[in-house]
Amino acid sequence: MTTQISSDKLIVALDFPTVEEARAIVATVGDQCQFYKVGLELLFAGGQDLALELKRQGKRVFVDAKLLDIGTTVEKATANIAKMGVDFLTLHVCDHKTLEAAVRGRGSSDLKLLGVSVMTNLDTDDLQQQGITQFSPQELVLKRAQLAKQAGFDGLVASGHEARDIRHLVGPDYLIVTPGIRPTGADTQDQARVMTPGKAIANGANHIVVGRPICQADDPHLAAKAIQEEISNAS
Ligand code: C5P
Repeated sequence: MTTQISSDKLIVALDFPTVEEARAIVATVGDQCQFYKVGLELLFAGGQDLALELKRQGKRVFVDAKLLDIGTTVEKATANIAKMGVDFLTLHVCDHKTLEAAVRGRGSSDLKLLGVSVMTNLDTDDLQQQGITQFSPQELVLKRAQLAKQAGFDGLVASGHEARDIRHLVGPDYLIVTPGIRPTGADTQDQARVMTPGKAIANGANHIVVGRPICQADDPHLAAKAIQEEISNAS
């Protein structure tokens, strides 16, 4: 009997206050996911050790550290994260010097660097409040996609609404990783620019990041399975 390997297009966000809760979800989701994201909440509560544990189990791991600092610090932090042997790391897209420092820090490791373009919970009004009045979120995402690519990044975190335009701009080899995913009818919570799993994949996302729709579901295994089916139908 062959075992159906679930697609690594689905990344489950382990947004939990403790490693025990995260571990329990990984066990419940089981064979429906092989790629996990450890973000800021868990990173400061044992998440780094959990990331190493997941790697030892043969899973892929996305460290969502969203780094932003001066070049030297970013370079050294990226080098240390690369030594963990994890797969993806996020950094905010800022000036090219800092982005290039991250690329130096990654060195010859297999760590993929992903730029965070515009957070998916922000809309035009939020950008205007920051003094960014000349760009819509979509235009700013494209500008930042280009900046990150020129610096040597491997991909971008962006909402499904921008995925098609980004793909057009940066070509087929650039990774597009899309959070803000909500199955049809699901609560959008604090996400503003949401999209269904199938639509995001059809729009060109290589991976979708899903947190609460799986982790807070009555049956996380079933929720992940339904999303895997939607990915498979859209691929
Ligand atoms: O629970 P939900 O599916 O909304 O989780 C989305 C995940 O994606 C969270 O872990 C959040 O930190 C992350 N994320 C995001 N928007 C970005 C980048 C990352 O929501 N632009």
